[in-house]
Amino acid sequence: MSRYWRLEGAGQCLVLGAAAGQMPRVVYWRDPLPEEEDLATLDLMAARDVTGGMLDAHPPLSLCPEAGRAFPGQPGLLLRDAGGRALHPRFAFEAAEEEATGLRLVSRDAALGLEHVAEIALDPVTGMLTLRARLRSEAPVILEWFAAPVLPGLAEAREMLDFSGRWIGEFQPCRSPWGPGIRMRESRTGRSGHEHFPALLVHAPGANNGAGRVQGFHLGWSGGHRMVAEELPDGRRQVQFGMAAGLEAMPGTEFETPPLYAVQSGAGFNGVARTFQRHLRDRVVTWPGAALPRPVHYNCWEAVYFDHRLEELKEIASRAADLGAERFVLDDGWFGRRDDDRRALGDWQVDARKYPEGLGPLIDHVEGLGMQFGLWLEPEMVNPESDLYRAHPEWVLGPADQVTGRQQLVLDMGREAVRDHLFDVISALLEAHPIGYIKWDHNRLLPHPDAAQARGTYALLDRLRAAFPEVEIESCASGGGRIDFGILERTQRVWLSDSNDALERLRMQHEAALFLPAAVTGSHVGPRRSHTSGRVQEMSFRAWVAAQRHLGFEMDPRELTEAEAQTLRSVTGWWKANRHWLWGADILRLDSDDPALLAELQLAEDGSRFVLFAGQAAASAQSVPRCLRLSGLVPEARYRVTLRNGAEAPALSRGEMALKEGPLVASGAALMQQGIALPWSFPERIWVLEGERE
Ligand code: DGJ
Repeated sequence: MSRYWRLEGAGQCLVLGAAAGQMPRVVYWRDPLPEEEDLATLDLMAARDVTGGMLDAHPPLSLCPEAGRAFPGQPGLLLRDAGGRALHPRFAFEAAEEEATGLRLVSRDAALGLEHVAEIALDPVTGMLTLRARLRSEAPVILEWFAAPVLPGLAEAREMLDFSGRWIGEFQPCRSPWGPGIRMRESRTGRSGHEHFPALLVHAPGANNGAGRVQGFHLGWSGGHRMVAEELPDGRRQVQFGMAAGLEAMPGTEFETPPLYAVQSGAGFNGVARTFQRHLRDRVVTWPGAALPRPVHYNCWEAVYFDHRLEELKEIASRAADLGAERFVLDDGWFGRRDDDRRALGDWQVDARKYPEGLGPLIDHVEGLGMQFGLWLEPEMVNPESDLYRAHPEWVLGPADQVTGRQQLVLDMGREAVRDHLFDVISALLEAHPIGYIKWDHNRLLPHPDAAQARGTYALLDRLRAAFPEVEIESCASGGGRIDFGILERTQRVWLSDSNDALERLRMQHEAALFLPAAVTGSHVGPRRSHTSGRVQEMSFRAWVAAQRHLGFEMDPRELTEAEAQTLRSVTGWWKANRHWLWGADILRLDSDDPALLAELQLAEDGSRFVLFAGQAAASAQSVPRCLRLSGLVPEARYRVTLRNGAEAPALSRGEMALKEGPLVASGAALMQQGIALPWSFPERIWVLEGERE
């Protein structure tokens, strides 16, 4: 006899079932069903026939597909006994604990002495499913692969979307056909990585931002992951996520997977993006001081690099404050003898050559300007050319003759002595100075993948957060090398990329919005000529693109003309006046008919207002812009739409357009179905439209 469980709410319905003597499996994962739906019939309806060339019954696609039951695809668990013999588990359901919003399903393999626990929770407001598996073994076992509870892949999907990337080129979409066999992504560099953002989107043919069925998956883990999307010979599909294979170095008796976040929606990519954004912002991130308004950053990296001179930094700080900055971040170069990136990581004492009286005079100056002070650190790293390395060469992770990365080595965060040392030096800095924010960097790949490393970093961050709950932390790893919900449980901002080129940012921000809300996504106005692309961009483009997310500045403010400074002040003023609602807004990506136009609408939580950013990434193929259709509005409501920056229209935009003259008032239906025609624009410009519900 089978047992069934049903988790339902906020647009999700997950039905699980367990046949006698078998492990539970997902029966149904789509939109909610009528309350009286008979779950046994639902299950029977989908039971498959048997034909030639196969076993006489289908091995179940359970929450952890079992090699011991002749499962014809990738098992959810690969392990060996302490002697190295492969084990082939066969789990049987044993017990269920049901709570209002979650389930705990226990299964056991008595012969092998294994217990598998699947924990599945559905957030009743955000609609996010969080799934985690635990394994207990009576005898020590060697774990090679352990998937979080396995979900079925969308049957009608022909394509899946995941992301690759690189330094200064994060969030590049990869589309692959979903046919027989496996698509696997694995990060084996010890970070979630630029190269393999730990997520997958599976979608029905024709799905777009606003319509069509989409499944979204993300693993909340920073230490390297594996994703397996597989279609079996019988047509069934499974999606597995877990830590990268072989990450657990030691035999053990207890293991757990990181949380897998999953959501499905019939409302297109925005349907899943909205859930990821809200869940991350409202459930995963913990904000010091109940979500204070995000302060405007100033970061000195691209202004001075390692060349720190107190008087110059004071002048830069004064100018940044005048432009509207509220937090001044002293980046790399303030400690040890850090004159370049070859030395001093690990020596977290203020460089007395650059700061003879310590950081006090700079901090006093910054605070005197009404700004908060923030500091850059890269705690997990050490340069061979450092006092720390000379004192503790044994603290390094990996072999002595390993290849360095950015001339640096990694500290073994699995060691308590290393964590204690780092806690002490960082605490001393935080106690000695009024530091409100840390930019926590991580600039090299690990010598080998190791789960203990990520756990050690988490433990250190948790301890620091408990001791200094008011201090905010940003996760940076050469830009976006460590962005995931695991690190974001402990941090409040991510540095999306080391590229401050607004054109590249426009694209990256658009893609990253599938998962990240504006509140956590740092974005800075860079130098006039981008240091990473060489492009020269106008201030209004740079400023509005940064204003799409958590705004900051990173150029040398002394390079600004008065006109540029005025534009930046004005955009910053707009951002400050609107951040109270932008913080909680949904970013809805718009389906533009023009591939040269990247557009999004940020809709206030209560639906009363929006801002639309339409970025002209390249010259369009057609001569003048097509209508852009809006999203997320109430069809019957009326909205007043104003072109905020119409004054930027170039002379080549010479038509008479009502939008250029003043606000237009139209229904949500008209705005979403017909849309609005935008004025002609140069490439690398962005239109900003504000909308208010009447
Ligand atoms: C890499 C970061 O991504 C940059 O923003 C900067 O902080 C440098 N490290 C400093 O070394």
